[in-house]
Amino acid sequence: MQSVKCKMKKVEEVKRPLQGDLTVPGDKSIGHRAVIFTSAAHGKSRIFNLSGGEDNLRTVQAFKDLGVNIQVEGEALCVEGKGWDGLCPSAKVIDCGNSGTTMRLLSGVLAGRPFGTTLDGDASLRRRPMQRVIDPLGRMGAQILSQNGKGLAPLEIRGGKLRGIRYLLPIASAQVKSAIILAGLQAEGVTVVQEPQQSRDHTEIMAQAFGVKLKVEGACSVVLEGRQRLCAREVRVPGDLSSAAFFLVAAATIPGSDVIIREVGCNPTRAGVIQVLKRMGAAIELMRQREEAGELVADLRIIGKRLQGVEMGPEMVARTIDEYPVLAVAAALAEGVTTISGAKELRYKESDRIATMASELRKLGVQAEEREDGMKIEGRKRLRGGCVSSYGDHRVAMALAVAGLSAEGGVEIDDSACADISFPRFFDLLEGIRAS
Ligand code: S3P
Repeated sequence: MQSVKCKMKKVEEVKRPLQGDLTVPGDKSIGHRAVIFTSAAHGKSRIFNLSGGEDNLRTVQAFKDLGVNIQVEGEALCVEGKGWDGLCPSAKVIDCGNSGTTMRLLSGVLAGRPFGTTLDGDASLRRRPMQRVIDPLGRMGAQILSQNGKGLAPLEIRGGKLRGIRYLLPIASAQVKSAIILAGLQAEGVTVVQEPQQSRDHTEIMAQAFGVKLKVEGACSVVLEGRQRLCAREVRVPGDLSSAAFFLVAAATIPGSDVIIREVGCNPTRAGVIQVLKRMGAAIELMRQREEAGELVADLRIIGKRLQGVEMGPEMVARTIDEYPVLAVAAALAEGVTTISGAKELRYKESDRIATMASELRKLGVQAEEREDGMKIEGRKRLRGGCVSSYGDHRVAMALAVAGLSAEGGVEIDDSACADISFPRFFDLLEGIRAS
């Protein structure tokens, strides 16, 4: 799973509008949950269209380490779950790599298991805040020790005998909410999780598809009984809107482009990028809208024209959280000023995405002002070309590649192979819509 992380990648400026009809890999968030729920269910399940990105593969390997039989059979990943009690102690430290979702959701699973496990990750993951899962899971009865007690990985988790809790998240987070739900499903009594803003609800949707009874009260409160049994089923993972976002912005920012992206998950708790681009004046059509296992899926068609700067306030954060890097590129190519505020959470992602995007856009000639909780970006018609760095952050690497399409002489991206974390073959697909 070790990939070469220091490859320079050249992305040339486009000479004509983008054209294409493509699909993107399976949704990373839904993929993690599919592996978790099938592993904790009773019986044999099959997962289709798991992304193949490194993050999802970390979750697969973690459950293999916990004794679950997981095999590739044709196009499907077959998972033989034996219930929560079928999970066994891992003989080794579980390596979550770069994946915050693996570490936080697995913490919720392991909080309920009566054995000890150590979770670790790469240098980026070791810097990310874990106290946000340690606190609620500790209150439920799990013992979680962090590195020097500072709330950082590696985490030593000793689980078992959980009690349900009522917990209000200080900041909206689907990872924290999901960790509590996964622990709550194994606990004694009722668990209630509330958020200040609704984060993505894939866990709630998938739990119900596996036979769990839970109630969503208002938009931001989830109530569930403990000790629930999961029943095996088939899962089809829709295309990842966060991956599609790079192509949406690429096409939206290059006038005359016409691109269709098929089978994309458009869950409204995730679809902020579509709303923001439409507010910027983009022409995006959701075609063939349908529902698959509770998730909204559509084919997206986008036609390029000059965008306008917008204000993105705190209300956009939860549903747009992973798309700020590429939306910063849209802003850099829009007419006028874009301001982003209330988005301090971006500083705790795979890189500090406020600092990294502001610094790299400045290298491309953009006036990008870094603020504590956001950015102010002045758009221009064409970017300056040059060398930029991803800082090992997959979404920064791909956002900068999109910028390269509109940069004089193109861009060279240092450490571009990290795109494989969520989107293997990203650069090939980007070439494809340029060539056709
Ligand atoms: C995710 C939730 C979000 C998101 C991450 C995936 C998930 O993180 O940024 O890429 O799958 O639950 P937070 O919960 O930290 O906001």
